[in-house]
Amino acid sequence: MSDAVTSHRKPLIVANWKMNKTESDAESFTKEFLKNIPSSLDRDFAICPPYLSIPAVRHLLKGTAVGLGAQDVSEHASGAYTGDVSASMLKQAGCDYVIIGHSERRRYHKETDSLVNKKIHAALKEKLIPIVCVGERLEEREKNKTLSVVRRQVTGALEDIPSSETRNLVFAYEPVWAIGTGKTATPDQAQEVHLAIRDVIKDQYGSHTSLSVRILYGGSIKPDNMGALMSCEDIDGGLVGGASLLPQSFLDIVTYAVTQASEK
Ligand code: PGA
Repeated sequence: MSDAVTSHRKPLIVANWKMNKTESDAESFTKEFLKNIPSSLDRDFAICPPYLSIPAVRHLLKGTAVGLGAQDVSEHASGAYTGDVSASMLKQAGCDYVIIGHSERRRYHKETDSLVNKKIHAALKEKLIPIVCVGERLEEREKNKTLSVVRRQVTGALEDIPSSETRNLVFAYEPVWAIGTGKTATPDQAQEVHLAIRDVIKDQYGSHTSLSVRILYGGSIKPDNMGALMSCEDIDGGLVGGASLLPQSFLDIVTYAVTQASEK
């Protein structure tokens, strides 16, 4: 892989708060985080609060380098879909990113590869950056099916996405067995899957596009394991759940990641 192209992939670290924090909790976190963030970090990062806290967090992030994202989006543009939120609503609420196909959505809301693909189309139409989650369950890893499961998910996600748009996608490899369990994939395990994801993109869109797409790792990231993960060639950042709930721990992750990434 050419260093010139690799270095174009700016690290991206994303906080996924899931269903945590009321509006006032979200405000306290954001104030504390912004107070302590070093000014010269060469990376992107973003916070994905629950929908209801997006306006409050947006207000505090205004004029800063910190991006804002949502945790899900409807595949529909508008209409009678009680409880859903559309991509245009998220865009107008100030979101830059949206997490799509998280394993908790796939598991608890029965989201399929085809629904994930529709949501990606809806997000791209509104110029949101989809963070598309893929990853195998424990029994799939034990049956040696990790790469085939992840390849199927990536191929499904990319259906009918033109290459001009694919460059804007972000993938997140999140082994389901590592989410919220304290078990992290080893850097070698993660790198193997990240490379497989990049290869699927390469087969479909060519190497230039595949080398531009950022692929994050997610699953029990902590300040003390982020550095080793980030030293892998195809790991471009992290999607952080539990360890993003405290400002100091998220700051430690963001800072450590950058130190390591610059050594690539
Ligand atoms: P975790 O969650 O860091 O708590 O494992 C990551 C995620 O689900 O995005």
